[in-house]
Amino acid sequence: MIWILQVLFSPLPTPALISLIAFGAGIILWVISRPKPLLPPVDLNKQSVGIEGGARRSALLTDNKLVSYYFEDAKTLYEVFQRGMHVSGNGNCLGYRKPKQPYQWLTYKQVLDRAQHLGSGLLQKGCKPSPDHFIGIFAQNRPEWIISEYACYTYSMVAVPLYDTLGQDAIVYIVNQADISIVVCDKPEKAKLLLENCEQQKTPNVKIIILMDLFDKELKDRGAKVGVEILALQEVEELGKNNIREPVPPKPEDLSVVCFTSGTTGNPKGAMLTHENVVSDAAAFLRATENSVEITSSDVSISYLPLAHMFERVVQTVAYSCGSKIGFFQGDIRLLTDDVMTLKPTVFPVVPRLLNRIYDKIQSNAKTPVKRCLLNLAVMMKTAEIKQGIIRNDSIWDQLVFKKVQKTMGGRVRLMVTGAAPISPSVLTFLRTTLGCQIFEGYGQTECSAGCTFSMPGDFTAGHVGSPLACNIIKLEDVEEMNYFSSNNEGEVCIKGPNVFKGYLKEPEKTAEAIDKDGWLHTGDIGKWLPNGTLKIIDRKKNIFKLAQGEYIAPEKIENVYVGSLPVAQVFVHGESLRSCLIGIVVPDPETLPEFAAKLGVKGSYEEMCKNPATKKAILEDMIRLGKEAGLKSFEQVKDLYIHTEMFSIENGLLTPTLKAKRADLAKFFQKEIEALYSSMQE
Ligand SMILES: *[C@@H]1O[C@H](CO)[C@@H](O)[C@H](O)[C@H]1NC(C)=O
Ligand SMILES: *[C@@H]1O[C@H](CO)[C@@H](O)[C@H](O)[C@H]1NC(C)=O
Repeated sequence: MIWILQVLFSPLPTPALISLIAFGAGIILWVISRPKPLLPPVDLNKQSVGIEGGARRSALLTDNKLVSYYFEDAKTLYEVFQRGMHVSGNGNCLGYRKPKQPYQWLTYKQVLDRAQHLGSGLLQKGCKPSPDHFIGIFAQNRPEWIISEYACYTYSMVAVPLYDTLGQDAIVYIVNQADISIVVCDKPEKAKLLLENCEQQKTPNVKIIILMDLFDKELKDRGAKVGVEILALQEVEELGKNNIREPVPPKPEDLSVVCFTSGTTGNPKGAMLTHENVVSDAAAFLRATENSVEITSSDVSISYLPLAHMFERVVQTVAYSCGSKIGFFQGDIRLLTDDVMTLKPTVFPVVPRLLNRIYDKIQSNAKTPVKRCLLNLAVMMKTAEIKQGIIRNDSIWDQLVFKKVQKTMGGRVRLMVTGAAPISPSVLTFLRTTLGCQIFEGYGQTECSAGCTFSMPGDFTAGHVGSPLACNIIKLEDVEEMNYFSSNNEGEVCIKGPNVFKGYLKEPEKTAEAIDKDGWLHTGDIGKWLPNGTLKIIDRKKNIFKLAQGEYIAPEKIENVYVGSLPVAQVFVHGESLRSCLIGIVVPDPETLPEFAAKLGVKGSYEEMCKNPATKKAILEDMIRLGKEAGLKSFEQVKDLYIHTEMFSIENGLLTPTLKAKRADLAKFFQKEIEALYSSMQE
């Protein structure tokens, strides 16, 4: 902005005059050439259609026939990749880089050949080309992950991803449950973890560990002692190349992957997903975006969200089926920005945690009042455009204010998809203005292959999760004890369609809890149909309890209200059936607390501010105020707080790998504080 002032207030030499004229012309051009809004494919006031039995389907469908594939020639993940090779003309497929180096690429054909070699090598080592043969993959995202996965698919075998945050016990459980004899690992450290289990005779079936990275003879000898052969990936590929086998392609109904998810309690459950499951979810995405952000072979996406989770797998399935490129991060999330700026992706899958970080960063960079004012003005102007359906990155505001942040995203992003957890509507709208790209939100779970609802192109409103994807129908089922009734358009979200999984591996009881006899997947989430046919998630079915006076409490609903309080980063609401009121554990936000505390006259380090009783009192008051605004009943409000200074995290065992609160563990962890709170109050 400064240079405009300089131009305006200095005597005008010719170049300055020219730039002033250019600036004026620019503004006029901007006004007359305002881009046209993106035309939504359906009436945004009717995004879903009621069908027989009370369920709803996407308005994108003209009848009740659900989408199970998008391309006639790509009905399995194996065919999806073949298609990518054809439509890209054997273009670049998987990119990787060393620190500070440019990306290097493997073509589609190179990946397929290596997958066939590795697969043939696995068969040579005793694997059976059949969908009841499971191979473990224990690695971070990298090209060899995909090569290993496709080695399985080329011979109808099934991939079982393992990942660090599961913990050692869960890995032992999975390896045994899936009867895994071969695991492909990235680093020697992971091989050592697996070997430890073998040495303690916990995993008698493991016979071969294949390593992507280099390893020493010591490791090989250590394996040999317990009858485990340690091989280099390259060695097995070489073996397969010399003993090449014809592919044994899978059928759509064959299993492709068993995706283990850890719940809040008990052993992890292995969701069995077929090729059709995954392909149908990707197909529904393609159907939703076909006339707005069509994916092509010139697209590039960045891969850093764990491949062990279905969200990233579906993103990649979309990419391969359109022949586009995937660039992997170096494996260190701290280097992600550098990777992104080097790769310059056009498609960027994200999770709310990352979006929140970008949001905070932009806000905290606008330090001076002038900058803040300019930012607010720019956001306001672009929000007005968004309300008319225009999303772009070339307005005057982008040039003046948002260019820098768009650059840190590589400068080419045209599509972001967020999922895996809820995102705050204000953050979503803010980022749509500042990043100037399409941001779609999806909602779903592993058991429906990732997504079951998705934003409708052209709908830039926030505060809902979009409408049903074209691969499934959705109904809301009564939950009487929580007062949710489908007649009020509220209830438990239930899903049916080709993306719904086949059940949990060797767990008929848990499967029957998840899928009822009519084939409906019960999600445990409580949803509400909005008048325009979009779905809003309002609560969780589980985690409800009764207080002493007999009132039902759904703590997550209450926590969702309280996290809206400015100084609150995390909150855990606790109650017991022998007590008549609720209490809360709050972790204040280190970023916002100083400002909040300053208003109370409280100063000092984060810890000191947290310790100050005035801070606690003010936070409690702010939460109660929000609770009242949101219509919480008085017994739903917390009566007292304990202020904790360390975030709940996966590492300290208080969050699940999908970042949900481990309620039982939280209650145990804070047992002393909880008792103290209850005993200090007169209930
Ligand atoms: C702006 O968006 C277009 C298409 O949506 C994209 O091609 C271009 O690279 C983007 N530019 C920046 C700076 O993000
Ligand atoms: C759909 O309805 C919700 C709630 O009434 C509203 O917030 C949202 O803006 C609506 N979306 C559109 C595109 O009209």
